[in-house]
Amino acid sequence: MTRHFLRDDDLTPAEQSAILDLAVELKKDRFVVKPLAGPQTVAVIFDKSSTRTRVSFAVGIADLGGTPLIISTANSQLGGKETAADTARVLERQVAAIVWRTFAQSGLEEMALGTTVPVINGLSDDFHPCQLLADLLTIREHRGELAGLTLTFVGDGADNMVHSYLLAGATAGMHIRIACPEGYLPKDSVVADAEAIAATTGGSIAIYTDPIEAVAGADVVVTDTWVSMGKEEEKAQRLVDLARYRVDSELMSLAKPDALFLHCLPADRGYEVTADVIDGPQSVVWDEAENRLHAQKALMVWLLSVG
Ligand code: CP
Ligand code: NVA
Repeated sequence: MTRHFLRDDDLTPAEQSAILDLAVELKKDRFVVKPLAGPQTVAVIFDKSSTRTRVSFAVGIADLGGTPLIISTANSQLGGKETAADTARVLERQVAAIVWRTFAQSGLEEMALGTTVPVINGLSDDFHPCQLLADLLTIREHRGELAGLTLTFVGDGADNMVHSYLLAGATAGMHIRIACPEGYLPKDSVVADAEAIAATTGGSIAIYTDPIEAVAGADVVVTDTWVSMGKEEEKAQRLVDLARYRVDSELMSLAKPDALFLHCLPADRGYEVTADVIDGPQSVVWDEAENRLHAQKALMVWLLSVG
């Protein structure tokens, strides 16, 4: 049966670990496997802006011997004119896989139900699972292993990165802490799913409103933009509501002395993170951005091998 990657818990702990192992190998030798030789084409569709996802998928598909077909929804029939299911049925006759950055998670589910080729979530309003593979790869590179580490996210707790940290972090056996204001809490259903996974992996989930308490002793501190794509109209209110949740050097100093700082980027320096932290010695954001390439290549190799 075709496997898809729509949310982080589509992978079991063993599968997630195997993909990260493969990513390490592919980082050592970028051109060692060519499952897309032909070249076969992978459709990469964008309803929202992107730099990293666009570049890393285009380069990664080429590294694997294939051809990326970058589609902007604005000049395709998808997005109001044709359903995701019909689009999927057209694409599957010609492409090896579909990557889609979109708004509603339900669109990705409709696309996946309608096709026999793997569908990969390139970011939705609810999840950013490809980013999490890169983040976990980065943390593993710098810390050796993931299980047992404490990762604290500070900021908009309802954002897609938080939902992905909850699920992927629990899958990896990590202790995931989220610090956010009351009005910016993660979805209850995702927290419950993450808690159920954590119960089987030795990880844990904790939600805080106090960033100081949440960061104390953490191995990894992360944040994300306060204004995710689609939330632009709420910007002024968000800057007020989230002002206490900025990662600055004072907050970082409460984590472990060698704690890592991650941010999926793009970043707004001076808002969710200060320049001295993101551009400082504890920041691994450029490794993190590069690792999108290696992690997604490993994901594609794995999906094409199991499907
Ligand atoms: N982190 C990330 O997904 O970046 P882009 O929006 O540039 O793809
Ligand atoms: N939460 C951000 C992530 C950007 C990569 C957004 O959805 O805009």
